[in-house]
Amino acid sequence: MSTNLVILAAGKGTRMKSDLPKVLHEVAHAPLLLHAMQAGAALSPRRTVIVAGHGAEDVTAASQGLDAKVEIVIQHEQNGTGHAVLCARGPLADAPGDTLVLYGDTPFIRAETLARMREARERFDLVVLGFEATDPGRYGRLVMDGNRLERIVEFKDASNEERKISFCNSGVILTSNSALFDLLGQVTNDNAAGEYYLTDIIGLARHAGLSCTAVACDEAETLGVNSRADLARAEAAFQARKRAEMLENGVGLSAPETVFFAHDTHIGPDTTIEPHVVFGPGVTVENGARIRAFSHLEGAHVSRGAIVGPYARLRPGTELSEDVHVGNFVEIKNAVLGPGAKANHLAYIGDASVGEQTNIGAGTITCNYDGVFKHRTEIGARAFIGSDTMLVAPVRVGDEAMTATGTVVNKDVPEGAMAIARAPQDNKPGFAKKFFAKLKARKADEIKKGE
Ligand code: UD1
Ligand code: MG
Repeated sequence: MSTNLVILAAGKGTRMKSDLPKVLHEVAHAPLLLHAMQAGAALSPRRTVIVAGHGAEDVTAASQGLDAKVEIVIQHEQNGTGHAVLCARGPLADAPGDTLVLYGDTPFIRAETLARMREARERFDLVVLGFEATDPGRYGRLVMDGNRLERIVEFKDASNEERKISFCNSGVILTSNSALFDLLGQVTNDNAAGEYYLTDIIGLARHAGLSCTAVACDEAETLGVNSRADLARAEAAFQARKRAEMLENGVGLSAPETVFFAHDTHIGPDTTIEPHVVFGPGVTVENGARIRAFSHLEGAHVSRGAIVGPYARLRPGTELSEDVHVGNFVEIKNAVLGPGAKANHLAYIGDASVGEQTNIGAGTITCNYDGVFKHRTEIGARAFIGSDTMLVAPVRVGDEAMTATGTVVNKDVPEGAMAIARAPQDNKPGFAKKFFAKLKARKADEIKKGE
């Protein structure tokens, strides 16, 4: 059956104390909203409607950047979750199939959990996702009769007896699109909060003779983000999950708790990630590569057999071919290194291409920026770039060419040539000895005068 997705994202997130709308705060370098969209993607939704309110312009721009097909509706006043879902009636009025409601600030609902809801939906008209709360606090309580859900009572409206229930509402609901909007049309705001509760549709559904149930998930999945502390907890939960997944997939992590992944990090099996490595967004590491300690990677592709670090920095647009070695204090940006190329120490390679088997000496810098424009450096195959070479871009170094140590290269170097540009050395016999003797004598003199 086809499914539509409604994501509630209109809330202000006052406790974040931020100008950024809450759902745009990031876990693992992706906005909470993207995590919610990815969770919902488990049911392959035909339509996705995001209900924006606070910071609607930013939320709209960000959502469309994440998925051009999402539809946005604006909830001008936050009159409750029921009112929020009702705002999606415009685009979804005649949509066939089911509709799943998710919260934009609840990033961890698992695909398996949604699959279990979909299964339950085959037997029930409406399915709610619940969880056994260690501290039920102010959550809505699920009033069950066996495996049938009778209604949801909000904490504010619950009796003392109902408040003792520990089976709580996560907020996720799956039902037919037509039933959802029919029922929502009947919801009133006659309650303790004066809000239109989405949760009221369960009682209304039962009244109309529809069957309802609740599927239980782990409490950790329903973790919602309301504060910076929650966001930090969500990050920790994401990292724990991702580390376990990586180990499971054959990635070697000797100190997993010190390695940080982004939402989209891809690492092949038989790779080794040493301690204290940080992955920003957009990194792929192929099978058998090794990322050594204290390296930072983002927007980079590392091929088989490559070795990166320790203390390396790969920035966006880095493409390391097979068996490339990038060593300590080497920064690479928007550059392709061909198979077997090496840059082992202290270098900056930006806006460049480096041919296969080329060796980049210590202290080499591609001077890519003139203060206004960026320029490219092209280095051929099997070239040798001597230590402390400054490559003033735009410039080319041909195949099998070399540059002498300390050379400032501002003209192309032809294939097979050597470029040398440095002042000739002049040795002055005895100079150093005499020079230091003179300095030491002056210092002794000053000490004497001071006494
Ligand atoms: C809601 C549920 C409660 C459940 C809890 C789980 C209702 C009435 N109550 O309570 O049963 O246990 O979540 O966390 O549904 N939002 C809008 N527009 C609004 C109101 C809310 O977009 O007018 C969004 C919020 O941004 C948030 C989500 O809906 O993402 C939930 O709203 P929130 O105010 O946190 O609901 P709770 O009172 O926590
Ligand atoms: Mg809440």
